Amino acid sequence: MIKFILNDKVVETTHGSGMTLLDFVRYQMRQKGTKIGCREGDCGACTVLVGELVDGKLQYKSITSCISPLGNAHGKHIVTVEGTNLEGKLSRAQQAMYDNYATQCGFCTPGFVVSLTGYCLRETTPTREGLLDAISGNICRCTGYKSIERAVDQLYQELMAPSENGRQTHLISKGFIPAYFAEIPKLLADIQEIPVKQGKQTMVSGGTDLYVRHADKLSNEDVQLLEQRGGMKEIQMQDGLCTVGAGVTASDIMQHKGLQEIFPKLRQHMLLVSSEPIRNMASLAGNFVNASPIGDMSLFFLALDAVLKIENAEGQIRSKAFKDFYQGYKQYDLAEAEFIRAFTFKLPAADDFFNFEKVCKRQHLDIASVNSACLISRSAGKIDKIHCAIGGVAAIPLYLKETCAYLQGAEINPVTIKAANEVLQQEISPISDVRGQKEYKRLLARQLFFAHFLELLPEELTLEELCY
Ligand SMILES: Cc1cc2nc3c(=O)[nH]c(=O)nc-3n(C[C@H](O)[C@H](O)[C@H](O)COP(=O)(O)OP(=O)(O)OC[C@H]3O[C@@H](n4cnc5c(N)ncnc54)[C@H](O)[C@@H]3O)c2cc1C
Ligand code: FES
Ligand code: FES
Repeated sequence: MIKFILNDKVVETTHGSGMTLLDFVRYQMRQKGTKIGCREGDCGACTVLVGELVDGKLQYKSITSCISPLGNAHGKHIVTVEGTNLEGKLSRAQQAMYDNYATQCGFCTPGFVVSLTGYCLRETTPTREGLLDAISGNICRCTGYKSIERAVDQLYQELMAPSENGRQTHLISKGFIPAYFAEIPKLLADIQEIPVKQGKQTMVSGGTDLYVRHADKLSNEDVQLLEQRGGMKEIQMQDGLCTVGAGVTASDIMQHKGLQEIFPKLRQHMLLVSSEPIRNMASLAGNFVNASPIGDMSLFFLALDAVLKIENAEGQIRSKAFKDFYQGYKQYDLAEAEFIRAFTFKLPAADDFFNFEKVCKRQHLDIASVNSACLISRSAGKIDKIHCAIGGVAAIPLYLKETCAYLQGAEINPVTIKAANEVLQQEISPISDVRGQKEYKRLLARQLFFAHFLELLPEELTLEELCY
């Protein structure tokens, strides 16, 4: 039995865990404010909030309900636009949209209101940029974004006012959220966990890949919810090693304080990955097993030389170097009933350099034409260790074994970098497709490879030296 809180009511259902949360909310619970646009996670019309108790504290994030399995709602607080309504007046987010004429046909408006309310709930030190990120997954076809930006500015000014009497009480008293939110932690604490399913059912983590392709089929299934396995959401840093649970999402990585210190450009890099609601759902292992040749997170962790911890049905764990995981297009070393439990990587030293580059047709909510990540350790001007991975130029997310071997121990100068690019060009095998001609992808591969070194030594290297 799946049990959760929908707005201010406890809901129990025997519907299959694979049904989409969107269909359950609209067709079973008749909450029609949650709209259906693309059903692919792209438009944000179906955005809802998910609140869960983390270390006793209630945390909210936005998700697109059209590609989220109903089962992942178990034990959580799901908030639709109806759940943001106050008695007899508009909430602050609703009012900001209204005051600034930020709605025309109104189809996208519930999604915007939910995303903005989610940010108010989540962020204790709000920024304008953060509020804009919060709506990065919401598309409006008719109003024009300037009026929506003005609504964001109004809400930002209101959020900046100092909190009185604790964050949640403040948000309730100032009309950002309705009063029933105060009762949610107690209601959630009373919901028991459901037993973990094991067997041949489809394994689902965030659902952002599977549901885009197979929503109809999965909707009638009772799926295996990997989120429910203990320890899958943890990030631990100890003795120079980072262990990351397979269910950790792109947002979890982006918001992790310890990782932010080690990777100063983490936020900048992660903002290139999809949109906020998708990052909130997208697990890292889902990205690895999806095996897309342009999987951003796959490249990230190939360049960190990660080691996968793979568990079988008996609970035995084996290790597999991530760089040896892929065997061909969408083929990888995972037997039936095996799943990725976690992965580890050595934390880079303070003077190690890490970089991620992505070229796509638009900056947000797009997959890459070519992307690349690179980790370089140096001493006395020479490369001690390099791990470089590149996407979009082979059948798999490609760890550049030969290029890395070539650069081991080499001096970093234009001659060696250009020679290494010659090795790289032998190692890749791009094809022409909607993302670009193969010649263009070869050029991008070279430019992104050079970009790592230009970022590493901006004072010493120039693009002209490398290109001509
Ligand atoms: C609108 C949109 C934008 C996107 N933008 C990007 C982008 O910019 N960059 C990018 O790289 N990707 C992007 N994606 C793709 C997707 O979000 C990611 O690949 C995501 O990381 C998949 O994770 P998930 O948890 O949602 O996977 P799911 O859909 O749950 O699963 C994907 C596959 O992995 C398997 N799986 C999941 N977890 C495990 C595990 N622990 N062990 C074994 N198998 C497992 C599932 O069985 C399934 O085969 C986008 C998707 C959407 C819908
Ligand atoms: S309907 Fe478009 S994101 Fe869900
Ligand atoms: S107001 Fe019509 S799509 Fe946004």
